[in-house]
Amino acid sequence: TGTHDFVVVANRLPVDRVTLEDGTAAWRTSPGGLVSALHPLMQASTGAWVGWHGAENEVLEPFHEDSIDLVPVPLSSADVRLYYEGFSNSTLWPLYHDVIVPPEFHRTWWVAYREVNARFARAAAGTAAPGATVWVHDYQLQLVPKMLRDLRPDLTIGYFDHIPFPSTDLFAQLPWRSRILEGLLGADLIGFQRASDTANFLTSVKRFLGLTPRKGEVRRPGSGRSSRAQTHPISIDAAKIADLAASPAVQDRARQIREELGNPETVLLGVDRLDYTKGIRHRLKAYAELLEDRALSVGQACLLQIASPSREKVDSYQQLREEVEGTVGRINGEYDSLAHTAVRYLHHSYPTEEMVALYLAADVMLVTPLRDGMNLVAKEYVQARFDGGGRLVLSEFAGAADQLGSAVIVNPHDIDGLKASILEAVNMEPTEAKRRLVSMRRNVQDHDVARWSRHFLTSLQETQDDDASPH
Ligand code: G6P
Repeated sequence: TGTHDFVVVANRLPVDRVTLEDGTAAWRTSPGGLVSALHPLMQASTGAWVGWHGAENEVLEPFHEDSIDLVPVPLSSADVRLYYEGFSNSTLWPLYHDVIVPPEFHRTWWVAYREVNARFARAAAGTAAPGATVWVHDYQLQLVPKMLRDLRPDLTIGYFDHIPFPSTDLFAQLPWRSRILEGLLGADLIGFQRASDTANFLTSVKRFLGLTPRKGEVRRPGSGRSSRAQTHPISIDAAKIADLAASPAVQDRARQIREELGNPETVLLGVDRLDYTKGIRHRLKAYAELLEDRALSVGQACLLQIASPSREKVDSYQQLREEVEGTVGRINGEYDSLAHTAVRYLHHSYPTEEMVALYLAADVMLVTPLRDGMNLVAKEYVQARFDGGGRLVLSEFAGAADQLGSAVIVNPHDIDGLKASILEAVNMEPTEAKRRLVSMRRNVQDHDVARWSRHFLTSLQETQDDDASPH
């Protein structure tokens, strides 16, 4: 056992070990929505965070950084290939995102997934004090709840799934589907982003484990206790985004960004990890057709697409990069003038200050994934626009659509619909745009990430109180 009363377990630590050009090592904020959501919670508590530090074959002692106790879990090169790039990101990720690319099923990847999950479970067991609360996160670690419960029956265990949970007919393809469900049911509370994710999970529990959930509650096999599945949509650090948006330096930077783009009337913005789930190809197609139709023109409009590097060794990500970059090159070759560009494409990631400046600079934000657990960029954008000036085009397949119903909601597979939605946003009356933004901002402010974690952890505690009381 360890000494921490509260332990977060996630594949990644909030900081990554990177090697600088001069050969020295440094720490950098890790990519993705999970880290950006949990970081504020952990800075405000005295818990520990168990996770991988992003470098291969490097064993590090626990350390303190950014006011958080960090417990690094090492991954070898083989673990990265089989567990991270393989089972996590070439089996589960595509399977859980509607098989946009075909998932691959390899028994060696599954073995590595089990081994690495066991390593995380042991690390968590060694960090948690007697009776502690442990909160496990995301699809990379679905076996950890059960493994941890077997090691440490004294713990209260929560699990949150940051990505979609697939429909039962897709989940059925997974050769290890029952093992995954049993792994998750090691948790007292299993949280999902959307009501549809929770329903999918419960349907699979019934179909593949033969257990009958009642009101989201499932009796754990072989014990008198039960697990509960609930919907807890994640959110952002609303105050942090508001503070940045109010900063004169960030506002100056926003004006400068527009100037650097040649002061177009309409700046359209996409901000995504370079991932096939994000719908970047569909977005580019719709935009190119709008230029072709002369509904938009270069100089008057500019699409700024930030694509942050992600999972670069995985084949499907390399293919996507080639396609996106080829398409951007073709669009610009066709429509650019000497003075103006149709698409400004940047394969970089940026700190939050720069992101907020980009949000302020953008008239229309395009968040059009084919499937997305939540999408925090959509929430950050509406929160940044205190001026009431932005318009959001949002895919119905992003979890955020359940909270941001006043966006221009679109099916990104429908290219004509996507084009019409982009034009609707571009041409929306300022009073109408403002009305929608005010209602969306209110929702984000009332449901920020602190409230999300408070509600999840309160519900988790309630599972203990209920289990303790006689039925
Ligand atoms: C999504 C996942 C996270 C993941 C992040 C970045 O947000 O839900 O679990 O950390 O993407 O992906 P990466 O593979 O770089 O950790």
